[in-house]
Amino acid sequence: MQKIVLVAGARPNFVKIAPLWHALSGYDNIDVKIVHTGQHFDEAMSRFFFDDLKLPVPHYNLNINGGSHAEQTGKIMEHFDKVLDHEMPHDVIVTGDVNSTVACALVAVKRGIRTSHVEAGLRSFDRSMPEEINRIVTDSVSDLLFVSEPSGLTNLKHEGIDGEKIHFIGNVMIDSLISINSRIDHSRILENIGVQEHKFGLVTLHRPSNVDSTSRLKELISWLQETANNIPVVFPVHPRTGKRLEKMFAENTAIQNNHSNLKMISPLRYIDFQKLLKSAQFVITDSGGVQEETTWRGVPCITLRNNTERPVTLESGTNYLAGNDLKLAGSIINDCIAGRAKQGRIPELWDGKAASRIAEIIVR
Ligand code: UD1
Repeated sequence: MQKIVLVAGARPNFVKIAPLWHALSGYDNIDVKIVHTGQHFDEAMSRFFFDDLKLPVPHYNLNINGGSHAEQTGKIMEHFDKVLDHEMPHDVIVTGDVNSTVACALVAVKRGIRTSHVEAGLRSFDRSMPEEINRIVTDSVSDLLFVSEPSGLTNLKHEGIDGEKIHFIGNVMIDSLISINSRIDHSRILENIGVQEHKFGLVTLHRPSNVDSTSRLKELISWLQETANNIPVVFPVHPRTGKRLEKMFAENTAIQNNHSNLKMISPLRYIDFQKLLKSAQFVITDSGGVQEETTWRGVPCITLRNNTERPVTLESGTNYLAGNDLKLAGSIINDCIAGRAKQGRIPELWDGKAASRIAEIIVR
């Protein structure tokens, strides 16, 4: 039996490990265990994702959440080490760029366990982002690097990583999206929120660069309220953003959460969120995964960041980088409403088979 530990900690990881779990579980000679670090713990950020993606209850939950980056990373390392003592796996697989990714990769590789990084090679070249540091460290220590888009190959080559370790296999996040495609039309989320297909915008914002400064957050909320004067805007609020908004609304009576066309709601489960994304006229985001999902679906996406680690979504997809420039973002929205948004195409190997390619390589 080849024993494999799959690590997940934060919301985007659950979407990435699901197809790996399903692909690896198909082999008789493989024993897969899921370790949830606990980084995201609310039902809406965690359990509902396991349900929608048909994942089993994790075999281990380390229950590490909150704290500074150092505390979170350190505690995850300490507890994950004990899981490895017990399981002694042949392989550890980490995905994405969150604190759980780098913490578990470091522990596994130091124990001499073959460590795979799924979604390797992405670079924003912005070292002020915690995710960029997590990506660079994880890629530099991992034994197998699974890449989702051509830029990943170029970046790893520039960093001098041995080509034998690198495999271009496509995008596991798209595997998940394809796997639930037939189920999303059962979602009643449009009716529940009170919006009509292709007649609303969807927003997700949680990056420190957008939500940690009160002045930036205030500017964004006023702008979203203005945008919502023209077209309804649905904004499922990430817990990090929610905490900042609560404080801001309490301190600024001039800016209130009472704009009926800006619908701020709790985080959504995967299937409902995908239904909204597919049905939106445009999406405004600072998330990495949402840039990819909109490109796959051909929905225009306006990214409120100065850079993206996923350039294929700009070059061949439907993504626009607007940085901090809300005037530019507004004019792109007007183009979308007028039907003048760019038409993208689906990037190479984003075909729903990335996880089976990974499984073949790991089992080989
Ligand atoms: C993390 C990832 C980010 C990813 C995002 C997706 C890192 C450095 N960042 O950011 O790359 O895009 O997840 O969602 O790993 N919280 C809750 N309930 C939850 C989850 C979080 O209340 O279920 C709170 C935390 O306690 C914390 C805040 O939200 O106060 C932020 O959570 P944290 O895990 O630190 O990072 P994210 O901002 O979610």
